[in-house]
Order: sequence, then structure tokens, then C-alpha cells
Amino acid sequence: MKQQILLTGGAGYIGSNTALELLNSGYEPVIVDNFSNSDETLDPRLDGVTVYKVDVTDRAALSAVFDKHDFHAVINFAGLKAVAVSVEQPLDYYENNLGGLITTLRVMEAHNVTRFVFSSSATVYDPAASLPYTETSATGHCNSPYGWTKYFAERIILDYAAAHPLFTATLLRYFNPIKGAIAEKPRGVPNNIYPYIRQVHEGLRDKLIVFGNDYPTRDGTCVRDYIDCTEIAKRHIAPLETEKPGAYIKNIGTGTGTTVLELIRQYEQENNCTIPYEFGPRRAGDIAECYC
Ligand code: NAD
Ligand code: UD1
Repeated sequence: MKQQILLTGGAGYIGSNTALELLNSGYEPVIVDNFSNSDETLDPRLDGVTVYKVDVTDRAALSAVFDKHDFHAVINFAGLKAVAVSVEQPLDYYENNLGGLITTLRVMEAHNVTRFVFSSSATVYDPAASLPYTETSATGHCNSPYGWTKYFAERIILDYAAAHPLFTATLLRYFNPIKGAIAEKPRGVPNNIYPYIRQVHEGLRDKLIVFGNDYPTRDGTCVRDYIDCTEIAKRHIAPLETEKPGAYIKNIGTGTGTTVLELIRQYEQENNCTIPYEFGPRRAGDIAECYC
């Protein structure tokens, strides 16, 4: 029998790419999502996957899903991720991202599910830590309530794992996901650069505004560690089979920093197109460089 893996927030960008990778690797993904940031119609390659419209903060509803399955592991993608919105509505972010996490851990405990993988972020690293960021680099001084939800989520999971010696927790700190077998379909104006570039290419937007060209980097634009979402998805497989209980932290990046201008050039070469852009002011909260 195939092992069933619960993906909370599995209808979203990284979750749906991971569901596809799990199918390809012989697992049975099961998706729980409230569709607050995704479509109820999934990519056709996920046809046949069991999907529940459930909010992970709803303990009774989540528990009813666990009653129907025998989950080998849970991957927690569910969360809100718009950095600027989190600054305006911090309680929504803490309530959803941390409330949902705690409810998920409680329901797992009640159903004796002891394997957990969590979507964390490079945003937990202290911007003052030296580059490249390694798993032991300092964390904290997050630049938004969103970032703090990841920081506190990690703390909660580490404390829970310490109190439950049979529990296996893997915290995956993603750097900047781009591309993927299933492309991101953001609602409204994209917050992240890659879907924005794609919308310029598709003619939905006139041009990209490059946020700042006076950073202390090789061409003045910010450096990030962009990683293909299919590669991110693949890196969720090994933690499902970790033998030894405990808590593990892993960076999910390429280890190579790319400037905004280099990213635009790469996109133009790969897609044989020209992406019009203009330099604009720096975006509040951006740091010059971030790579692992
Ligand atoms: P996404 O918004 O596409 O997917 C998240 C999914 O969670 C959405 O389908 C949304 O509807 C669902 N969701 C949100 N709150 C929920 C709730 N209470 N109950 C049930 N479902 C809920 O985002 P993504 O890019 O796929 O990110 C997945 C995870 O990875 C998130 O936790 C995000 O913070 C984290 N992450 C993302 C990035 C990135 O750049 N995309 C980087 C680092 C970390
Ligand atoms: C952002 C979040 C981070 C989150 C990540 C994934 C901030 C400060 N950080 O990372 O917490 O984990 O998204 O959701 O918001 N850029 C432009 N023009 C644009 C859009 C972006 O020049 O229209 C630049 C940015 O200045 C940055 C780079 O592109 O240098 C990448 O931006 P983005 O895709 O938003 O990701 P991050 O800011 O790295």
C-alpha cells in the first residue's frame, strides 16, 4: 500500500509541485487547503488526488480528515505569505500561521502521526549574519510579522520535538522559489519577482520595476538565491524517510547568488524575449544579499 502524506496548503504553489513529485515517487498525497490563496481546480496532473476544503485552524474538521486516513507524515505548507500585508494585519498572520501550526500538531498527536515537515524560510536569518547563510547562522531580527511567524513556528516545532522523543521534525528553509513544473498563479499584482517578470512577458504588465540599483552588489541590484520549485519539491522526499527521530533544519537553495539584472537576462535567454524594465527606488525591508 502506498504511504499517505498529508499536505496542508497543498493546493498552493510549492504544495502542488510537491504533490506532483510525491506521485512520481510512489506516495499518495492527500491535500487539505482552505483555498484562501489557491484555486479549487488543481493542475490536471493532480487528478485523482484526494482534496479536502478544510481550514487548518479548524481542529474538528482537520481531525475528521485524519480519521479517514493513515498518514505516514504531514507536510505543513499552509500559511499566509504576503510580507507587506503581514505588516498591516499582523494578527491575521499570527493567528493563521501559528494557530494553524499548533492545531495541526495537536491533531497529529491525537492520531499518533510523528513525522512532520515544515515550510520555513530564509527570512528567519538575521540580516546581520554573514553570508552565505548556513543552518547555524544567527536567526531573528525578522523584517516583518510574516518573518516572525516562521521564526516562532520553528521555535514551537523545536520545543515540541524536544518534548516528544519519537517525533521527527524537518524545518526546510526555502530561499527564493521560481519556475516549477506547475507555475505560480498569483492573485492580483504579484509580490515576488519571477511571476511579475512572467506577467510582463505575457503582456499583462508593461514593465518590471527593479527595486533599487544602488546596493553594494556587483551591478547595484539585490542578490538572491533563486531555486527551481521542482527541485524544492524533490527535497521534501528524503525527510519523509528519515530514520532517527529528532529535529532537523535544512536550507533549500542553490548556494549561488543572482542579481535582479542577471535574473532578467537569464529569463530573456531562456524564453527568447525582451523584458522591459526601469529602475525604481528600493523596496522597504529588502536586504542587499541573501543566499545559502
Ligand atoms: P501559497 O500561498 O501558494 O500556498 C499556501 C497554501 O496554503 C494556499 O493554497 C492557501 O490557500 C493555503 N492556506 C493558507 N492558510 C490556510 C489555512 N488556514 N488552512 C488551510 N489552507 C491554508 O504559498 P507557497 O509559495 O506555496 O508557500 C507554501 C509555504 O512555503 C508557505 O508556508 C510559505 O510561507 C512558505 N514559503 C514560501 C516561499 C515562497 O517564496 N513562495 C518562501 C519561503 C517559505
Ligand atoms: C520575499 C520576502 C521573504 C519571503 C519571500 C518568499 C521581503 C523583504 N521578503 O523575499 O520574506 O520569504 O519573498 O515569499 O519581502 N524585485 C524587483 N521588482 C519587483 C519584485 C521584486 O526588483 O517587482 C526584487 C526585490 O527587490 C528582490 C528580488 O527582486 O531583490 C526578489 O524579490 P521577491 O521575489 O519579492 O523575494 P524576496 O524579497 O527575496
